Amino acid sequence: MINKNDYTYVVSASGRINIIGEHVDYCGGKVFPAALSLKNTVYIRPNGTDKINLSWTTLDEKVTLDINKLGEYKHLEYGNYQAGSAYVLQQAGYKVLGCDMVQDCKVPFGSGLSSSAAIEVSTIAALLAISGESLSNPEIALLAQKAEREYAGVNCGIMDQYASACGKLNNAFILDCKTLECEYVPIDMKDYALVITNCNKPHNLVESKYNERRSETETALEILKTKFDISCLADLSVEQFEQGKDLLSGKILDRAKHVVYECERVKLAKNAMILGDLNLLGQLLNQSHASLRDLYEVTGIELDTLQKAQIENPYCLGARMIGAGFGGCTIAIVLKTQVENFKQEVLQKYEKAIGYKPTFYDSYIDNGITVEKV
Ligand code: GLA
Repeated sequence: MINKNDYTYVVSASGRINIIGEHVDYCGGKVFPAALSLKNTVYIRPNGTDKINLSWTTLDEKVTLDINKLGEYKHLEYGNYQAGSAYVLQQAGYKVLGCDMVQDCKVPFGSGLSSSAAIEVSTIAALLAISGESLSNPEIALLAQKAEREYAGVNCGIMDQYASACGKLNNAFILDCKTLECEYVPIDMKDYALVITNCNKPHNLVESKYNERRSETETALEILKTKFDISCLADLSVEQFEQGKDLLSGKILDRAKHVVYECERVKLAKNAMILGDLNLLGQLLNQSHASLRDLYEVTGIELDTLQKAQIENPYCLGARMIGAGFGGCTIAIVLKTQVENFKQEVLQKYEKAIGYKPTFYDSYIDNGITVEKV
């Protein structure tokens, strides 16, 4: 048990869902994420040394990092995200103090709910709290993204870290990943609930497949730039894409088509949410999943089986995979009074087809970073 009074700050950052806009953040597109009440919480106190002592509520490990050698911990099984976060902060010219940190992660690992972003963002915010330096939440998100890219080796976009840092209670937000302009949109699901389900597929080379998709979109962009004056794939309208698509073929065509149409779906989903048209929102979720399955090829049998079982339920308006894919979670829009029946039915169908159970998470849409001085 942690006694919070033994620490100087308690700092949290969130896991996230993404309503729609998948695999478009690194193409300059708009995404529609929200922060969750599932969080990584850091208990921190300065210790007057040049060491960061790390421990976890969920692990027996203890790891010590030398603050003069923060670049050297990439290989660590535990503590590499924290080391990477401290490292990028230091590299950016901010003071990193020796400290004791206990990490309490309630974002399930490998779930596609961005546990890594929650760890990076909360670690950076905690280090800033004890050093007294201040950065805005979007600035913290950018540093956390740098840690993920340069230290963890995933060439990710900005969506996860931004949601983890800047989320707002009961709101999702449209984030323009090209300009970082952010517009909060209140989430009013009326009689419906957003159900989050983990397909529980064992972790499987997500990083390398993710980086491969990203480079395929870069190839598409280079080719399309010969015809259009664009700086990213998301600059292309559906009409322009239809005019120029003959320049592309095979997988590269499929990937680009997903990105362009998914960007269009984000616009429609934002309006549907504002107008309270949950039927339309559900259809857009289904279209997004189909595109991620058939064109972007990031779903897999587990996520497809789960999503299919979900949309077969008469009280489900739509469902789709979220995050990088290749495993992880779906979100589904389900009539509140039917949620328990829905879960039972989905669990049975999924277990029968796949051989193990999915996990349902209870969570709500919450704030991003919170800092409490003890
Ligand atoms: C991962 C990445 C994000 C984003 C999603 C897919 O979660 O970290 O930047 O690209 O995949 O939308």
